[in-house]
Amino acid sequence: MPAHPLEPLFAEEITAAAACIRAQAGLDPNSFFETITLDEPSRAERAAFNDSGTVPPRRAYVCCYERASNRTFRGRVDLDQDTLLSWEHVPGVQARIPPDEFDASDKIAKADPRVVKALAKRGITDLDTVLIETWAPGNFGIEGEEGKRIAYCHCWVINDAGDNRYGRPIANLHPVMDLAAGRVLRVDDFGVVPLPPDTAAIRPSEGLRDDVKPLDITQPEGPSFEIDGYAVRWQRWNVRVGFDLREGLVLHDIGYEDGGRLRPIMNRASMAEMVVPYGDPTGGNFRRNAFDTGEYGIGTALDSLKLGCDCLGHIHYFDVCAHDWDGKPAPIRNAVCMHEEDFGLLWKHTDSHTGKFRAVRSRRLVISSIATIGNYVYGFFWYFYQDGTIGTEIKATGIPFPTAVPRGEQPKFGALIAPGIASHVHQHSFNFRFDMCVDGPENAVREQDFEAAPLGPDNPHGNAVTIVERPLSRESEAAREINLARSRSWKIVNTSQTNALGQHTAYRLVPGQNTLPYLQPESPVAQRAGFMFKHFWATQYDPEQLYPAGWFPNQHPGGDGLPRWVEADRSLEDEDVVVWYTMNFHHLPRPEDWPVQPVVYASLHWMPEGFFDQNPALDLPPHAITS
Ligand code: CU
Repeated sequence: MPAHPLEPLFAEEITAAAACIRAQAGLDPNSFFETITLDEPSRAERAAFNDSGTVPPRRAYVCCYERASNRTFRGRVDLDQDTLLSWEHVPGVQARIPPDEFDASDKIAKADPRVVKALAKRGITDLDTVLIETWAPGNFGIEGEEGKRIAYCHCWVINDAGDNRYGRPIANLHPVMDLAAGRVLRVDDFGVVPLPPDTAAIRPSEGLRDDVKPLDITQPEGPSFEIDGYAVRWQRWNVRVGFDLREGLVLHDIGYEDGGRLRPIMNRASMAEMVVPYGDPTGGNFRRNAFDTGEYGIGTALDSLKLGCDCLGHIHYFDVCAHDWDGKPAPIRNAVCMHEEDFGLLWKHTDSHTGKFRAVRSRRLVISSIATIGNYVYGFFWYFYQDGTIGTEIKATGIPFPTAVPRGEQPKFGALIAPGIASHVHQHSFNFRFDMCVDGPENAVREQDFEAAPLGPDNPHGNAVTIVERPLSRESEAAREINLARSRSWKIVNTSQTNALGQHTAYRLVPGQNTLPYLQPESPVAQRAGFMFKHFWATQYDPEQLYPAGWFPNQHPGGDGLPRWVEADRSLEDEDVVVWYTMNFHHLPRPEDWPVQPVVYASLHWMPEGFFDQNPALDLPPHAITS
């Protein structure tokens, strides 16, 4: 029995869910399991559990792909009763590509004489050195692909050192797979480009530097957090670690203990979808646009962090359980890392007359996961600060997508990053879902702008700044873009709660670095990634609206998700509000990103605004003080 209804499914439950589907769903035996994950308790079930301890039934959400009929099914299993609660065929969609299917294409493609011939034309005969990788194909209306389960492949030769499978790109060669039939449908060959020289070893050509002295983080009295299963308490923060097979790391029940009571802020927070459209229209390159969450799944791709974790000090790891395509549990030990981190100065005051000062250092709680998907590595980091701020940050590293260019040629839609190797301009677009409950279940949305007031009788010196706050009362009004000239941001308020100044308690979403999409809105990729085009969205809570590009972005014709949902134009005034924030990160790789890219960061923050009566971190023991 799980200790709490939001604990991730454990191995025996995954086994039981798969067995129930096999016995009761009537699927062809040659079907595979796309997803077995926790079907989270409803709002009402959560309330009953919190109020009276009534334990909700334990359920699994399951999605399967039936190869024989090329159909996708989904439903819910009651794990307590071992029964199927619902099961439906979802017409016209394709299940995600699970890791087993992702890996299987390599073998299938190499067994195809057309692929062997195309490789031989490029002087490549040792197939063991070749990587043929499955990419979700998008939906471009290409003849012969309609209605089939397709993968569009990209090819590389592994480097001589054997540590970089993407080391020597084979440009212009794309086996197109019919995944249901397990065969190559056709081979797209846009012409031979010489294999670039081997510059890909992920190690220095000379020795390692020897001037890095030890830097130890010690916590002689242990960490300041307390853990109960997946529930965490730290510096007045309460948060519950969760897991979704598709989103990976999920945080539940984020709240802050203030004056002896636990004040809720968010029900649930996650990185709910992402897409990486590449900006090269030539050959088969226009098909590079990865929805890593909805097409592949972040949860199935989490690293086991014992080694290769970037954390120091006292670390607590949480285990989760994914599964393979046969429905067998695939435990990921140490999938989620938690530790405390010194974060420099939190606040300081110096009395300039006496020279006396008081300085307090900042510490943050870090909860993170790292996913490896093909060539790329994404770190998903959540931060809790002692002043009530919540942050989330993406750390992007791994190998920038390499392709070959003829020697002496400059890539038009990318940058030369090594001899004969280019990497295309692209964007990483992340959409975060924040299921809000600032001081209670009913919230409202406000947008704040600043305007430089015109010269006039009220502004004779030209310095006046007008603060413009307006309600975003309906979904149609709440699809918004960042405005640099107006320093725009948004806050979620509770209009029935006030602080000591009589202000409504609130949390403000403070955007970080961002940009707009370069995709044409009419493009097939943009049609599937409508969420990219607005930085801020707010919707009224609906348990079915979890993923901003919809449940099935793989090969989807487009139009699903946020843009469709907000057509309902529901009220956001004192309602159950969900905020969606898009972080578009623009990326033109550099030579310094080869053969492996130093981490690039993208972040956003939620800051309390009138949530507290004054600085909530006044009571921290000072790091330095003069008396
Ligand atoms: Cu990038």
